[in-house]
Amino acid sequence: MGRALMQTTLFGLLLTLVTSLPNKDDWDIYSFHINSTVTSRYATTVITSRVANRMNESKEVEFQVRIPKNAFISKFRMFMDGQVYDGVVKTKEQAQQQYTAAVSRGQSAGLVSSVGRTLEEFKTSVTVAAHKKVTFELTYEELLKRRHGKYELQIHARPMQPVSDFKVDVYIDEKAGISFLEVKGGLSTKALANAITKTLTDKQAWVYFYPTESQQKTCDSCGEQGMNGDLVIVYDVNRDISVGDIKASGGYFVHHFAPSSLPRIPKNVVFVIDQSGSMGGRKIQQTRKALIHILNDLNEDDFFGLITFDGDIFHWKRELVQATKTNVNSAKTFAQNIPASGSTDINAAVLEGARILKAHPREGSASILILLTDGDPTSGERNLKTIQSNVRKAMAGKFPLYCLGFGFRVNFEFLEKMSLQNNGVARRIYEDSDADLQLKGFYEEVATPLLTNVTMMYTGGTNLTQTHFTQYYNGSEIVVAGQITDNDIETFTPEVIAISGTGSVRFSDTNPTVESTDSVPDSRLQRVWAYLTVKQLLDKALQLSGPEKDRMREKALKLSLKYSFVTSLTSMVVTKPEGDNSDVLHKPKEGQVQPNPVATSRISGQMQPNPVATSRNSGSSARAGSDGRRGTVFFLLILFLYTVTIFIDRYSIKVHHMCKKQKNRARAHYEDYGDLDITASPASPHGTVATVPVLHRFLIKTENQSLPLCFDVPGDTRLKLLHHPSEELSVIGLLDSPPNTGFKLIVIHFKNSQVVELCPDGLIKQQVQGVMHYTGQNLVSTDITAIGRDKEFDVAIGDTRMVVFIHEVDGNKFLWPVLRQKPSDNSIDGILVLKPAVYEEVQQSSSTKLKIRDQEIGVTRSSAVDYTISAAPTLDCWFMSAESALQRRLDDFIV
Ligand SMILES: *[C@@H]1O[C@H](CO)[C@@H](O)[C@H](O)[C@H]1NC(C)=O
Ligand SMILES: *[C@@H]1O[C@H](CO)[C@@H](O)[C@H](O)[C@H]1NC(C)=O
Ligand SMILES: *[C@@H]1O[C@H](CO)[C@@H](O)[C@H](O)[C@H]1NC(C)=O
Ligand SMILES: *[C@@H]1O[C@H](CO)[C@@H](O)[C@H](O)[C@H]1NC(C)=O
Ligand SMILES: *[C@@H]1O[C@H](CO)[C@@H](O)[C@H](O)[C@H]1NC(C)=O
Repeated sequence: MGRALMQTTLFGLLLTLVTSLPNKDDWDIYSFHINSTVTSRYATTVITSRVANRMNESKEVEFQVRIPKNAFISKFRMFMDGQVYDGVVKTKEQAQQQYTAAVSRGQSAGLVSSVGRTLEEFKTSVTVAAHKKVTFELTYEELLKRRHGKYELQIHARPMQPVSDFKVDVYIDEKAGISFLEVKGGLSTKALANAITKTLTDKQAWVYFYPTESQQKTCDSCGEQGMNGDLVIVYDVNRDISVGDIKASGGYFVHHFAPSSLPRIPKNVVFVIDQSGSMGGRKIQQTRKALIHILNDLNEDDFFGLITFDGDIFHWKRELVQATKTNVNSAKTFAQNIPASGSTDINAAVLEGARILKAHPREGSASILILLTDGDPTSGERNLKTIQSNVRKAMAGKFPLYCLGFGFRVNFEFLEKMSLQNNGVARRIYEDSDADLQLKGFYEEVATPLLTNVTMMYTGGTNLTQTHFTQYYNGSEIVVAGQITDNDIETFTPEVIAISGTGSVRFSDTNPTVESTDSVPDSRLQRVWAYLTVKQLLDKALQLSGPEKDRMREKALKLSLKYSFVTSLTSMVVTKPEGDNSDVLHKPKEGQVQPNPVATSRISGQMQPNPVATSRNSGSSARAGSDGRRGTVFFLLILFLYTVTIFIDRYSIKVHHMCKKQKNRARAHYEDYGDLDITASPASPHGTVATVPVLHRFLIKTENQSLPLCFDVPGDTRLKLLHHPSEELSVIGLLDSPPNTGFKLIVIHFKNSQVVELCPDGLIKQQVQGVMHYTGQNLVSTDITAIGRDKEFDVAIGDTRMVVFIHEVDGNKFLWPVLRQKPSDNSIDGILVLKPAVYEEVQQSSSTKLKIRDQEIGVTRSSAVDYTISAAPTLDCWFMSAESALQRRLDDFIV
């Protein structure tokens, strides 16, 4: 790696900077997929970006994505020219030794940096030869944390360009059952809202987000450069009252414990608020506002204390008092008038808070100390180590200390260490217009203690993660993972003992439902264990010093390497093709001040061009048009290539006007839709009339979680799937004949009588001068993009995006279309755009009726396979006639 450029003369450095700034106009992100799978709250997300260099010379192509801070990157690969370049996780030292050159340049490329509140950025680039393509694939893993009674999976999408084939697929599998599911975030707003489809069964959920290219410019923070925002999947799982939810596989177990039907424990809470000069202005206003909210929320049987400090300490009251109306009002007046001036004596203030709490031990209550500060200690005791040791002595492990660091001037590591040493956590409060809500939100997480002194015990379990928790709050969750000795589930017995509002409690199950999935060994539980263990070892290392700290770090490092996690102790080295520098990717430390303008733009919630993008920005509007043209030239070239193969195909297989024959079909019925006689009744191969007409079952889903409706449509029917007059688009589906299920052909008619057909064999046909031709698996033109994959077609026409699944039942393949992007036009019609069902259940003695639009309809409980999802789950549904379900004649949908 002794490249001349690395001899960091000023000239060389400048040259590097100039030549390495990638110009995003030079390449085309033609596909961007985010695929997230969540099982037992453990999310594995894969981002795949496919990029083409459309210039006639080699170009540097950049891959830049944002991932949650809590996640560990576990895999990164690049595919180029038939080669795979895998990132390798190494110790920081190894990475450094081997790639000193790259590290010295490390600031400009191949770096993970912290951006905003919850995300960090992964960035790398590679040189791509003229007209070549590269695929980037990044995998990260994260255990979702329950807060405020829900889990949130945050997916950030910022591909840097509108992308024709953009999609987000989320699959959630929770054996305990999903109690609710919502989709939030900036990307669920405006026109993008109807690019989201979600399906929820008892235990599984699917969320799809397939915005069209034009929609990608129309969300709250999206623009000409495409989307920039979050999709947040919010959900919770069902809880039972017993010992909780335990899963075991491959010798590992994970235990989720979150009982909610317990009485609250009265609390003693002392607020220690920094009122030093630096808190002046908006910060102190927001603090006052949040405090007043919080005081209002105290329960009458809570006790509280409030002190403020600068170089001195100011008491509202010298002792803990009950949260009566009078006391709360008096405290609110005090809070309203907190000034901001002077220095910061954290030591004296926290010790005084602890004194107040300890002076009033109350039987059966839970004590909490909350410190809010925005700076380093500047008066009184200023040695950080001494403060930590004083505080530790004063708290004596009796209650947790929560430290809230306001803004970026605080020494966050100091606060974090002090919290962890005292069974609490530290949280950063971001200086922003919603700082008061952040404060309030944090308080609400600890506002309702349900248990104290929680001990999790596992007979037959070893190598456990943390098992003792001082307090358990409503809306949170305790997660413990470990190994099962000798993988012996029979003797494995979990038990929880704790103190509740009504005294000592023991949670145990004489017959614990340890769900073992050993039939399908699932290494994910092992990864959950590794993830938790590494996180906790790193936290422990932070609290300790000397050889003990080294021991913790050593253990964490071993596991990080074994499971290939990029943590604060490891780096990922990405070796690139000859001639490119290798990148070394580090995980940033929380609390590092980011002078990066990207970071500040996230905080203010607005999109600002980053330094790289600025150069492009100057002429972006002028370039937009030529972008499109260049894209077209590129795509036409592809089209041309396929046309060549079409003709080869056409003559070699000699079946150019219908879908290819399939095996196992009862009846060879492969005519082109134009020849189909829809009045013909299904007949058996021997000429006798079939007695059981084959029916195809359709589902109409509801918007809430009530049962969907289902109805049957006879076989050999030509259905109007979608009619979109303003786009001159119509999609027709041909239902197969007995005994086959599903559609045997999907026909798309659009502008100027162009016709495209999709076949169950995964091939696409297009009408060229009146004759149907196979076009292989891809069809890309200005009007339509259709991409055939193993199990689906992706089709985009104007503002419509459709997926056509290829399902297989008993060796017979059939099609099932689903709209992923509903056009906003009101005049559209068809089976694919039915409104969600709205009904009321009317129970009458033994039979159930549904009330739909003032009409009572007799129904029976039945089930249907939901073919609009690739996994084809079976859903329960209310069965009725097609007319009742559609609230129209079925004939309206038959062509
Ligand atoms: C998403 O990831 C899961 C798990 O790796 C995989 O089974 C599934 O096929 C992927 N889906 C897509 C659309 O790539
Ligand atoms: C490559 O592009 C340049 C202009 O960007 C042009 O002058 C040259 O002719 C092109 N070469 C080829 C082989 O197309
Ligand atoms: C705990 O939270 C749940 C909802 O998340 C609520 O129904 C329950 O009443 C809460 N328990 C207490 C003691 O506040
Ligand atoms: C907490 O529980 C442990 C074990 O169950 C017990 O030894 C300890 O005394 C308890 N502590 C308190 C403060 O109740
Ligand atoms: C616990 O983990 C260590 C490595 O961290 C391993 O050597 C040991 O075998 C594990 N214990 C059991 C019972 O599997």
